Amino acid sequence: MGIRNGGRRRINRGVGLAILGIGLGVKSLWAAPAISPYPLRKDGLSGPDIASIQRGFVVFDTVCARCHSVKYMRFDDLKALGLTDDQVKQIAGRHSIEHPTEHPAGSLSSLNPLGEAGPKSRPAGRWDYFPSPFRSEEEAKRANNGALPPDFSSFAAYWPGGASRIEAFLQGYRPAPEGEKVPIGSYYNIYAKNHSTDMPPPLQVGAIHDRDGHALSLAQQAHDVSSFLEWVAHPHLIERRQWGISATLYLIFVGVCIFLLKRRLWLLAQKSRSKEE
Ligand code: HEC
Repeated sequence: MGIRNGGRRRINRGVGLAILGIGLGVKSLWAAPAISPYPLRKDGLSGPDIASIQRGFVVFDTVCARCHSVKYMRFDDLKALGLTDDQVKQIAGRHSIEHPTEHPAGSLSSLNPLGEAGPKSRPAGRWDYFPSPFRSEEEAKRANNGALPPDFSSFAAYWPGGASRIEAFLQGYRPAPEGEKVPIGSYYNIYAKNHSTDMPPPLQVGAIHDRDGHALSLAQQAHDVSSFLEWVAHPHLIERRQWGISATLYLIFVGVCIFLLKRRLWLLAQKSRSKEE
């Protein structure tokens, strides 16, 4: 019996070690140096920083929107960031909607009520979806050396590494080190898959200013635009965080009440026991 048990234990241990070995093997394959580790974003305890998301929208609108779309965002969605109707109208009015185009998100507002004969474009309104820079994927690729700039509607949610990696990526361009070749028309970036991307470095110091006219540093622009992309991909982030804070405060309140009540009952129970004695 004892010998058989011991044997089984040894077999079990062997199988365990084999599984561990395979696990480690898979892990090291998985962790092959395709994506270098990137620093994690530092978000305050207070949750999404609305001022940063707002500045990030400006970075997106001024720089990234030349190549990338956010086809599921309406201008009116910006009101969740605290902008007023008028501010949203003003921002929308700086963009134009081309006619007639069928919007992938099915926006009625992008259909030309006047048909082909009508004006070719009109200023965007609050309810329009943010217009895409290219009419089709083919046109986008043609303008970008064959690479397709991804749509940003849910990009930060599905791209491995999310907002943290986007922030690092925008600051990850370097001259290619000796021995590492980058294909013609591609750029060396330490946070890109295989260190190579077809997106030219998009950010420049001095391209974006804050409300007081100070130029935003490259790190600040990268942080802000990744805040914006994270918010676009999770539009309920702000409400969820606010709900979370309210729920936590409520639970703390209930906890304190229960504690006080328990102490009260305990004291009463002790008193009545000492009376009985
Ligand atoms: C000149 C056009 C252009 C501009 C401007 C631009 N991008 Fe891109 N972006 C591209 C292209 C093209 C790709 C696809 C690259 C690829 O597949 O290698 C891309 C891909 C990306 C990727 C994924 C990287 C990868 O290698 O897959 C991220 C992240 C990104 N862009 C963020 C941004 C942000 C944020 C901005 C604004 C600050 C921006 N881009 C501005 C063209 C652009």
